Amino acid sequence: MPNELRDHLVAYFEEHRTLVEAGALTLLLSERQPLVLSQEILERLDPQAPFVTRELVESILSARRATHGPAAITVTPRRDPALGVPATDLRAADLPIFQLIQEGFSEPPKQHLPLQAYGDLFRHRFAALSRLLKGRPDLPNQRPIAGLRHTDEEVSVVGMVRSVRETPQKHHLILMVEDDTGAIELFVPKDSPGALLPFLPDEVVGFKLKFSRDPERIPRVEAVERPDVPARRTVHRSPTARRTLFLSDLHIGSKTFLADEWGRLTDFLRGEGPGGELAATIDQIVVAGDLVDGIGIYPHQERDLAIADVSEQYQELGRRLKELPERLTIIVVPGNHDAVGPAEPQPALSPALQEGLPPNVRALANPSTFSLSGVVVEAYHGRSLDDLIPAIPGATYARPTAVMKRMLQMRHLAPIYGGRTPLLPSARDGLVVDPLPDLLVTGHAHTYGVDQYRGVLLLSASTWQAETEYQRMRNITPVPARGALVDLSTMELHTLDFSRPVTAVHRGAG
Ligand SMILES: [Fe+2]
Repeated sequence: MPNELRDHLVAYFEEHRTLVEAGALTLLLSERQPLVLSQEILERLDPQAPFVTRELVESILSARRATHGPAAITVTPRRDPALGVPATDLRAADLPIFQLIQEGFSEPPKQHLPLQAYGDLFRHRFAALSRLLKGRPDLPNQRPIAGLRHTDEEVSVVGMVRSVRETPQKHHLILMVEDDTGAIELFVPKDSPGALLPFLPDEVVGFKLKFSRDPERIPRVEAVERPDVPARRTVHRSPTARRTLFLSDLHIGSKTFLADEWGRLTDFLRGEGPGGELAATIDQIVVAGDLVDGIGIYPHQERDLAIADVSEQYQELGRRLKELPERLTIIVVPGNHDAVGPAEPQPALSPALQEGLPPNVRALANPSTFSLSGVVVEAYHGRSLDDLIPAIPGATYARPTAVMKRMLQMRHLAPIYGGRTPLLPSARDGLVVDPLPDLLVTGHAHTYGVDQYRGVLLLSASTWQAETEYQRMRNITPVPARGALVDLSTMELHTLDFSRPVTAVHRGAG
């Protein structure tokens, strides 16, 4: 068990084609957020360096201390009564059931002008995602854009997509892509394999190019590579058959909160009624945002509110969660209806908002990545669906898991800047999907869906709110009162349906 985190780290460096010395690994494991530190190491590592040494880790740690002081780590370890050990203490004798890997949120720099801060954000995104494309056999001879020459024979670039347009008659694509050295136009023939997936603004993509002899002509794209999920990778499973229940979008405080259905879920978890034996195997609940309905989120929302005061809504959330068995660890991330500000990544609920919540609740940022008995889970509310669904032909709110696949291919949860998802200008892009999870859960769509992509389980975790007028207007039909119950040793899934009185708990993948 204690070696599982070590295995995560080794696999993480392997994915980035970097070896790590045993002494460096031990030092990393003694840190509270070893993966955040590992990312920093990969950013600073000399591309020619054969492996990560203990000296390198030491030098980064001492540079960090000099800049921030010893306590400048974004996550404060909190003694969790449900766990008995500080959840972020990696030196605990046994691997805890819950282990925070990283929170997406980091404070934006105070002194920076907004433009400079967004520049830093996009530079970090580009560095983090282009690193995943480094050394790919299908992207030979990678060069910065400024280093390209039309006499190049076989050459590749990695760039962020700035714009996409179609040629007027034949509908071929002309992309404008940029890196930190410059920008270039690229030609993608309409029916070529590279044109199969639409290019989205601000995603980072690798291109193998062919230059024409004519220096006036735009280079042609021969092959396209996205950061993606490696076809072969290490998957993690719990050594014990314990389960986690995934929920989302409670919307406490809304007139359309499904109190009866929530009551059935509460009864089930308390072992009252059918399925008691199954309920006893559950250790954690993960809620993927929109814990309350909030205030002022959409026009005339007050008409839909049963509780008009936002702190009262959190008090009511606390009362509801206190009805659930105390032994459960309840992991919550905020969504766009929560009172933490709309920009993503969002911070965890403030201490004031957490006041009425029971002590077994662990409030994390949106998104957050954590390990549950060794299985890596990433929870993201899913606001970016509002930008990705209109941008991807054929995508709908009824099938958000198809869009989640696209997030994994891009290795980014919310790439599009300037749409409906406001992005926080932090120096670190916390919406990059790195490390890869074994399970990605989102909400926001208010539908229930389950799928897989290259061994990553994808869940769209339903809602506990009936259809509102606003959703009717936007043509969103909810699939409420479902829960996804996952056995962490096998990733086998039960769909729990509380939309009707529970007569039996059926097994099935919804
Ligand atoms: Fe919601």
